[in-house]
Amino acid sequence: MRYAYLPYNLIFLNFLKHMTILVTGGAGFIGSNFVLDWLQQHDEAVVNLDKLTYAGNLQNLASLKDDPRHIFVKGDIADYDLLSNLLKTHQIRAVINFAAESHVDRSIHGPEDFIQTNIVGSFRLLEAIRHYWNDLDAEAKSAFRLLHVSTDEVYGSLDKTDPPFAEDNQYQPNSPYSASKAASDHLVRAYHHTYGLPVLTTNCSNNYGPYHFPEKLIPLCIQNALAGKALPIYGDGQQIRDWLYVKDHCSAIRRVLESGQVGEVYNVGGWNEKPNLDVVHTLCSILDQLQPRTDGKSYAEQITYVTDRPGHDRRYAIDARKLEQQLGWKPAETFETGIQKTVQWYLDNQAWVSNVLSGDYQSWLDTNYAARN
Ligand code: NAD
Ligand code: DAU
Repeated sequence: MRYAYLPYNLIFLNFLKHMTILVTGGAGFIGSNFVLDWLQQHDEAVVNLDKLTYAGNLQNLASLKDDPRHIFVKGDIADYDLLSNLLKTHQIRAVINFAAESHVDRSIHGPEDFIQTNIVGSFRLLEAIRHYWNDLDAEAKSAFRLLHVSTDEVYGSLDKTDPPFAEDNQYQPNSPYSASKAASDHLVRAYHHTYGLPVLTTNCSNNYGPYHFPEKLIPLCIQNALAGKALPIYGDGQQIRDWLYVKDHCSAIRRVLESGQVGEVYNVGGWNEKPNLDVVHTLCSILDQLQPRTDGKSYAEQITYVTDRPGHDRRYAIDARKLEQQLGWKPAETFETGIQKTVQWYLDNQAWVSNVLSGDYQSWLDTNYAARN
């Protein structure tokens, strides 16, 4: 990993003219998995722009320390000048936009950062890309892509018997987080429709896997279980999410970037609908096998029902047939294989977890859980 603007990088990247991608938010959960995955599959360099908020963690990318194909830049997607400079200096041929505030509960406690990054930031990113793209020669212009990474939450909530979300479902975002993501999706769409910007959008279901920040259900419960703490279930625990192993999300993004049709939206999902309570019971039984409690009881004894999330969406489910039928993508992992790997990863990477749990993480736990009895 190298920092930007070093002469070495400029020489190296000039050689790879128009063979560099820009990833935003590449120090977060999905972004860092994507960067690691990308560099395993390609020799094409990655410029990684990340603000390093509480969710960004350069330790996720430690294995790229000596890899000149990874150029890390600390910065904000709302910084138009920085973006313009990066796009031009590195002759970027594609941008994959992961950068966002991503946690629904945080958006309920404080929506402002979500508006700033997910809406204003996405707008500035689009402006910088539009101006850069306009000045490219015809060949580079037609090859250029912006892939915007979005979420199934923009479609709202399903009842138990509703069909899963298809790409033409109406947008009905219910949280400040999903509303801000919906706004960014609309801006991306508008920049294609109005300016012809070659965009692709993916709307994905819940991810899980390595480097998942332990504010989210799966890593939070693994960590709390091991620490002998409560496993907090919001409401009745019967809310349904459609879980996808993060590496499958990465392969879907690569596929869409390679072969997706400009202006199109692709839903990405794992065909793994599970109620939250079942997910937590599964985690407990895997932990019971891999690292049993010293008192011989099950980790399931730690399950605790707490006050529900305000406006909690009941069910998400993704219809991923378009991606399968048009681009030939399918997830490689089932929930059973992916969750086993994930629990094992957390057991093997407790140093990573300890590092993440320092900082302002404890004050977030107080903010979110103190009022939930
Ligand atoms: P995350 O919170 O783990 O990571 C977000 C990253 O963006 C962090 O590294 C953070 O430092 C960076 N960032 C935040 N604000 C920034 C800014 N203004 N400028 C530059 N960088 C900034 O999120 P994640 O779970 O990895 O999600 C990545 C993307 O995928 C998001 O756009 C999210 O909406 C979307 N998504 C997530 C899921 C999921 O289950 N986690 C599912 C579908 C879609
Ligand atoms: O659907 C895609 C979305 O999935 C992404 O867009 C978001 O960025 C990502 O954070 C995720 O959102 P969720 O709100 O579904 O994820 P979270 O892990 O926060 O919660 C999953 C479910 O578990 C949800 O129904 C709320 C519930 N939950 C969560 C926490 C943190 C609990 O019951 N207890 C908890 O302590």
